Amino acid sequence: MQKPTIYITRKIPEHLLDPYRERFHFRMYHEERKPIPKDMLYEEVLEADGLLCLLTEQIDEPFLRHAKHLKIIANMAVGYDNIDVAAAEKYGIVVTNTPDVLTETTADLTFALLMATARRLVQSSNLIYQNGWKEWSPFDMVGTDVYGKTIGIVGMGRIGTAVARRAKGFDMDILYHNRSRNQEVEEVLGAEYCSFEELLERADFVVSLLPLTEKTAKKFNKEAFERMKETAIFINVSRGGVVDEDALYEALKEGKIKAAGLDVFAKEPIDSSHPFTKLDNVLLTPHIGSSTKETREKMLTLCLDNLDNYFYGDGALTPVTKNKK
Ligand code: GLV
Repeated sequence: MQKPTIYITRKIPEHLLDPYRERFHFRMYHEERKPIPKDMLYEEVLEADGLLCLLTEQIDEPFLRHAKHLKIIANMAVGYDNIDVAAAEKYGIVVTNTPDVLTETTADLTFALLMATARRLVQSSNLIYQNGWKEWSPFDMVGTDVYGKTIGIVGMGRIGTAVARRAKGFDMDILYHNRSRNQEVEEVLGAEYCSFEELLERADFVVSLLPLTEKTAKKFNKEAFERMKETAIFINVSRGGVVDEDALYEALKEGKIKAAGLDVFAKEPIDSSHPFTKLDNVLLTPHIGSSTKETREKMLTLCLDNLDNYFYGDGALTPVTKNKK
């Protein structure tokens, strides 16, 4: 069999490809920090049997229809809302994601963001850079306690479970809301299942780990923020699209909630012109949930293993489409 051609939509470290070079012909976009232009991707995909892409690529129905040879798309993310999975299934194209390998790293970032927001770490650091620290005083940069508080996790999958384990270590009460009950977190961590509305009313920290779907789009809306405590802190590390950002801005500005730590945004990237940057009760990070060298390499390797198993084994390892072959 002729070596399958794999197109990679961003420049990734060459050494990660070495173990697979005998089996694949790789082509790769030359930029590391810029997404591939759409017309170039349209052209390149015509020759490709497999695609390794990122969440910056919108893989829609017209693209899938156009990609005549394409058999598999390995998306370097656990979320896959950038891909029209139903259309891929219609054209017999397998889609894979990268679960598990990023779970703990993303849970670490979630907790880091939660703690940094509660204790105002970035504002405190900035105070020094801006020569604002004149004297020690009792109520300077006061934050909010984390230990012993109530965390409400919306979306209790793998990452939610890993966040709950961290919360347990901080002696927090754990509430969660999910499509289905999660026995593990209830039995092992003592987490309590409740409705979305009840969670919003009771949690000191509301953490969104919801995937973006038609059902979850803008789930955190005006009404949701109004239900939260005035002292509540909102953390989002899943997708910006699950939040009505205008409503969140208003809630933060009007003091309806205390603060927010956000790693994801409805339209990325954002810059210093974004309204959130005008608020001093928000901590913003540029979608770095899984961003450690170890984890990003594992995610790419899982993409390559998915391609390898699809073409040379029993089928893709972590498909999100019904078929894996
Ligand atoms: C990142 O956001 C991912 O879905 O892996």
